[in-house]
Amino acid sequence: MTISNKNSKNNLWAQLSGTLAFAIAFTAPAYSADATDTAFEKKHPEQYQSWLATSEQVEREDMLANYPAAVILWAGSSFAKEYNSPRGHHFAVADASHSLRTGVLPADGKKGLSASCWTCKTPDAPRLMKELGVEGYSAKNFAELGTEINSVVYCTDCHEKGSAKLALPRPHAQDAMAKVHLPFEKQDINMQGSQVCGQCHVTYYFQPERSNKVNIPWIFGNDADKIEKYYDTRRFYEWLHPISRTPILKARHPEFEHWSRSVHAERGVSCISCHMPESENKDGKSYTNHQVGKAMDNYAQVCQSCHGNKQALLTKLEDGKHQIESRARKVEGLLVKAHYEAGAAWDAGANWAVLNDAIMAIRHAQWRWDFAMASHGLYAHNPKEGIQLLDTAIEQVTYARKALAEILSMYKVESVAYPDYSTKQAAHKAVGISLEKLTAEKKAFIEAELDKHWPKVSRHGYE
Ligand code: HEC
Ligand code: HEC
Ligand code: HEC
Ligand code: HEC
Repeated sequence: MTISNKNSKNNLWAQLSGTLAFAIAFTAPAYSADATDTAFEKKHPEQYQSWLATSEQVEREDMLANYPAAVILWAGSSFAKEYNSPRGHHFAVADASHSLRTGVLPADGKKGLSASCWTCKTPDAPRLMKELGVEGYSAKNFAELGTEINSVVYCTDCHEKGSAKLALPRPHAQDAMAKVHLPFEKQDINMQGSQVCGQCHVTYYFQPERSNKVNIPWIFGNDADKIEKYYDTRRFYEWLHPISRTPILKARHPEFEHWSRSVHAERGVSCISCHMPESENKDGKSYTNHQVGKAMDNYAQVCQSCHGNKQALLTKLEDGKHQIESRARKVEGLLVKAHYEAGAAWDAGANWAVLNDAIMAIRHAQWRWDFAMASHGLYAHNPKEGIQLLDTAIEQVTYARKALAEILSMYKVESVAYPDYSTKQAAHKAVGISLEKLTAEKKAFIEAELDKHWPKVSRHGYE
C-alpha cells in the first residue's frame, strides 16, 4: 500500500493549497518545501549553488570493514548488516533507500521498519508529520512512504518557509531542546545555528509505545550517564543480543551532544562556524557557504584565527583520533569476549539471577562505546569526552568479564569459543549474516519498487 497525492482527500487539499499558493505568489518570497522549485536558484544563487555542491562529496567509508567487531556487537540488529560513514547531504535519501538496513517491503500483514527512518533525511518528513499526525507518520512503514520523499535536506529543514529565519520544523527537536533548557526561540543566532543541525545530528530512539515516533532521550540531560539513566529507568532496550541476551542500547550520531560540552561551544564556535563558514561571491558580497562538508577544508577562513599553526592543529587532530581509535579497538575486543562468555554461561545453565550483574555491565560498557563510535568527528568535536567514555567502558567490561569468569568456573566451563572477526566477511559468517542473500533481496526490491515508483532523489548517485 502507498499513500499518494492522488487519493481524494489529498487531492482536495492540493487544490485548496494550489489556490492559496497562487494567491500569495505575488507577495511571499518563493520558499517552498519542494526541491524542484527553481525560484531559489535565482533569488539566492550563492546559497542554492553551494547547497547543490554537497552532491560532490561522494566519498564514504565502510565502517564495518574498518572495525568488524561491530558486526558481533550489533548482532541481532540491522546495524550489523551495513554501516557507512556519512557523506554529502545530497545523498541522504538515496543512501537510506539503498542501505541493507532499511531492507525490503514487508510481507503482507507484517510490520516493517518505521517511516521514522525518513525523519533526518528530508523536509518531506516534517511535511508528512503535519499531514498524517506525528504518530500517523511514524506508524507507517519506511518503504510505504518512499513515493512521498521528493527532496534531500533542504532550505525548509533549517529555515522558516518564506524567510532566511532559522527554524526547527521537527517536533522531537523542539521538545529535546526544551528538555535541556535551551528552548529554540530563546537562543541567539549562534546556538540556533547548531540547533538546526542538532535536529538530525543527535541521538534518538523510536518510542515503541508511541507508534515508533522519534524521541530524544534527554529528560535527565544529554550526556551518556543521564541518557543511560533514562533508558535504565524505563527498562528500555533496542534488541536482545543473540549470544549474551544483553538488552542492548544503541547510540546514533550524538554530534550535537558532544559539541555542546566542548571548548568550542564554550567560546561560541558553532557547527555553522566550522562547517558553513562565511564566504564571498565574485562581487565581494559575503554569504553563508551552504556546502556543508569537511571543516578542515575551511582551515584558512575558520580555524586559523585561533589555531595559527596548521601543522600543529593537524597533529592535535591525529593525536585525538589515535587515542580514541586505540581505546575503541580495545573495548571491542573485550566486549566480543564478554558476549561469548555470557553465552557460554547461559549454555551451561546459568540464569538471570546469576548473570544480571555481568550483563548489565556489558550493556553499560557497550552503550558508552557506541556513544563514542556513533559520533562522527568526535576526535575533533570533543576528544576528551570520547577518551573518558571509552576508559569507563573498559572498566565496565573488565568488571563484567571478572564476574563472568567466576560464574563460568562455578559451572565448570573451562574454555569459551570466541568468533573470528578479523574481517567483515569473517564477522558476518560468525553471526550468520549472508550479504549475498540480503543484497539480492534488496536489488529485487530496488528494481521493482524504487526504480519504478519513487521520486528521482532516491536514486541520486546510484544511476
Ligand atoms: C542545514 C541547514 C540549512 C539548510 C538546509 C539551508 N540553510 Fe540557509 N542558512 C543556514 C544557516 C545556519 C544560516 C546562517 C544563519 C546566520 O548565522 O545568520 C543560513 C543563512 C541563509 C541565508 C541568509 C544569508 C546568508 O547567506 O547568511 C539565506 C538567504 C539562506 N540561508 C538561504 C537558503 C536556501 C535558499 C536554502 C536551500 C537551497 C538554504 N538556505 C538551506 C542553514 C541552512
Ligand atoms: C534533516 C536532517 C539533517 C540536517 C538538518 C543536517 N544534517 Fe548533516 N547530514 C544528515 C545526513 C542524513 C547525513 C548523511 C548523508 C549520507 O551519508 O547519505 C549528513 C551528513 C553530514 C556531514 C558529512 C558530510 C561529508 O561530506 O562527509 C556533515 C559534516 C554534516 N552532515 C554536518 C551538518 C551540519 C553542520 C548541519 C547544520 C548546519 C547539518 N549537517 C544539518 C542529516 C542532516
Ligand atoms: C571547531 C570546529 C567544529 C565544530 C564547532 C563542529 N565541527 Fe563537526 N567536524 C569538525 C572537524 C575538524 C571534523 C573532522 C573532519 C572534517 O570535517 O575535517 C568534523 C566532523 C564532523 C562530522 C563527520 C564528517 C564525516 O564525513 O565523517 C559531522 C557529521 C559533523 N562534524 C557535524 C557537526 C555538527 C552537527 C556540529 C555541531 C553540533 C559540529 N560538527 C561542530 C569541526 C567542527
Ligand atoms: C574562536 C577560536 C577558535 C576557533 C575559530 C577554532 N578553535 Fe579549536 N580551540 C579553540 C580553543 C580556545 C581550544 C582549547 C585550547 C587548545 O586546545 O588549543 C581549542 C581546541 C581545539 C581542539 C582540541 C579539543 C580538545 O577538546 O582538546 C581541536 C581538535 C580544535 N580546537 C580544532 C579546531 C578546528 C579544526 C577548527 C576549525 C575548523 C577550530 N578548532 C576553530 C579555539 C578555537
